[in-house]
Amino acid sequence: VPALDEELITLGLFELGAQGVSQDLSFIQESQQYDPEIIETSDVDLLAFFAPEKKEELENSQLLKDFSYDLTVEKNKDWLAEWKKHFKPFEVFDNLWIVPSWEKKDFLLKDNMKAIYIEPGLAFGTGTHATTKLCLSSIFKTLSSSSHLINSALDLGSGSSVLSIYLKQMGVDKVTACEIDPLARENGKFNLELNSIKNVEVLGPGDSSLDEDYDLVVANIIDGVLLKLKEEIFSKKPKFIILSGILTENKSKLIEAFTSGSYSMIDSGELDEWSFLLLKSEAL
Ligand SMILES: C[S@@+](CC[C@H](N)C(=O)[O-])C[C@H]1O[C@@H](n2cnc3c(N)ncnc32)[C@H](O)[C@@H]1O
Repeated sequence: VPALDEELITLGLFELGAQGVSQDLSFIQESQQYDPEIIETSDVDLLAFFAPEKKEELENSQLLKDFSYDLTVEKNKDWLAEWKKHFKPFEVFDNLWIVPSWEKKDFLLKDNMKAIYIEPGLAFGTGTHATTKLCLSSIFKTLSSSSHLINSALDLGSGSSVLSIYLKQMGVDKVTACEIDPLARENGKFNLELNSIKNVEVLGPGDSSLDEDYDLVVANIIDGVLLKLKEEIFSKKPKFIILSGILTENKSKLIEAFTSGSYSMIDSGELDEWSFLLLKSEAL
């Protein structure tokens, strides 16, 4: 529809009984700073959602006659239930398992197995994503080789709290989670409780309780945001920094930005199209 008429047409669709109308926008994002700009266009595509019994009425409606449109019928599904069918316990690496909350009661922990129970909500962090897997294994390696140095950790961009749970399971005394999205914070708190983890605060950015030093900062956030958070991460004076959420094509930019001062890169790796970096303070 012509962009100038979009509001009027949307109103008309609601009058016809639409339960929702959405517009596909195009963006450009020229820099690494992740501030996308909307591209203005003369025509826009609208998606309108109606109850299925409205189909005939819509086909005869005067409003739609003036435009080209497709009418499709979608099956009504319980999407969360569909998705749950495929989310099964899985081993991230040797003996570390991620287990969906509904499998907790039946999941048998044998020998040296560790489990992180996750209730998938609106937060990122079911453990299935490459960026999370890279973080978990880097936490394991870092804590196994230098645990005596790491008594406190900040999980920046904590999502489901999956990394905070693991840091506590690995014996880090003080762990703090920081998450910008209030709904994810709620899910993160739920997951901490599900794993019987106590004493981990889940805070929003800017909370004054974050103003302290941490031995380790783990940040799994998309690379453009990591660049923006660089000074904040350094301000915690960490001995070690784990950065994940880095598209491999942007890895060199991140290395350059984070190693220009007093940190050097001591490990890095890739999974799918993602990379992680482990940085160590040169003061150590
Ligand atoms: C890729 S997810 C990582 C979730 C989890 N830590 C994991 O490893 O699976 C990144 C999270 O960072 C959060 N986030 C983005 N910018 C943030 C900021 N400036 N401060 C805190 N959290 C932020 C997002 O809301 C999202 O939940």
